[in-house]
Amino acid sequence: MELATVKAQNGKISFPYIPVAVFIGGTSGIGRATAEALARYTNGNTNIIIVGRNRAAADSIIASFPRPSFPSVKHEFIQCDVTLLKNVRQTTNEILSRHSKINLLVISTGEMELFNREITEDGLDRIVVLAYYSRWKFIHGLMPALAKAKEANEDAKVLSVASAGLGGKVDLEDLELKKVSLIPFLRSISTYNDLMVEGFALHFPSITFIHCSPGRVRTPLGSNSSSILFRTLSFLINSPFSPWYYYSLAPEDAGEYQLYGILYTASAPGAWRITQDGSDLGKKGYNGDENARDVLWRYTLEVTSTK
Ligand SMILES: NC(=O)c1ccc[n+]([C@@H]2O[C@H](COP(=O)([O-])OP(=O)(O)OC[C@H]3O[C@@H](n4cnc5c(N)ncnc54)[C@H](OP(=O)(O)O)[C@@H]3O)[C@@H](O)[C@H]2O)c1
Repeated sequence: MELATVKAQNGKISFPYIPVAVFIGGTSGIGRATAEALARYTNGNTNIIIVGRNRAAADSIIASFPRPSFPSVKHEFIQCDVTLLKNVRQTTNEILSRHSKINLLVISTGEMELFNREITEDGLDRIVVLAYYSRWKFIHGLMPALAKAKEANEDAKVLSVASAGLGGKVDLEDLELKKVSLIPFLRSISTYNDLMVEGFALHFPSITFIHCSPGRVRTPLGSNSSSILFRTLSFLINSPFSPWYYYSLAPEDAGEYQLYGILYTASAPGAWRITQDGSDLGKKGYNGDENARDVLWRYTLEVTSTK
């Protein structure tokens, strides 16, 4: 999809209501750029809630949004470290206390700590919490507000920014991903996101759930890593003197593509997978099945509901 086409289409965004959009991981990178594009195209007239740890970043992003013309419209930040599921529960309740409906929920939390794996207080792998459990728990907890938007005939859409199309088979005997080596581990997380959107689409059929692959995007993800390897790779991707630079996207372009994907490509309720340019990925690189979807759903409900 041509970027110019995507931008032209995004420029036509017009909601017949004031939307509410939540960006979990909206303080940086792809989430930030998608929030900025939405704020710009709606002239600031979207209620936007940014969730993350970095208050200073959120304040400066919010200050850069166009000032809304309706006094009731708010641009807010909620500080939350999503690696602890009790924080996810608390933030979900906070969001629900402020907004009874949600039209768009975009989740793009992540860090590049593949060689520095930690187990959280909840006894879960921190990477999997960021890429899967916390996302699942936010979506599940915020479902009443998404359903309320749908009941009012408004958009109700969820986007999980992860790695659609790069999935591998899930080992149903090792759902905690304790036994797998790094590559199958990463491929399992991709499939978990596929199965997550499919599971939610099955249980909440009026709502739209999307798993996207943003491609290689020039964000601080790698440069914030404790690993010298990822910091070096990130430097190479982010340097305009490197050939890799030309095979990567600027965050603002990724934001345009993802906004297009959520608003236009995912045009009906159900489970979707979209590409880095916001088009439909279909079942390319898909490694799930109905049994894995249902087993993972039950397992995740059990893990997340007790924390
Ligand atoms: N960039 C790429 O090339 C690329 C490629 C494929 C997939 N992805 C995936 O896309 C997603 C977004 O990546 P990005 O490039 O936009 O990264 P980024 O610029 O580093 O943004 C990551 C976001 O996650 C939030 N976050 C990280 N840890 C958190 C925590 N413990 N609690 C709350 N929020 C947390 C950060 O907010 P705070 O710092 O404020 O907490 C930030 O807003 C990630 O899942 C990444 O794996 C990225």
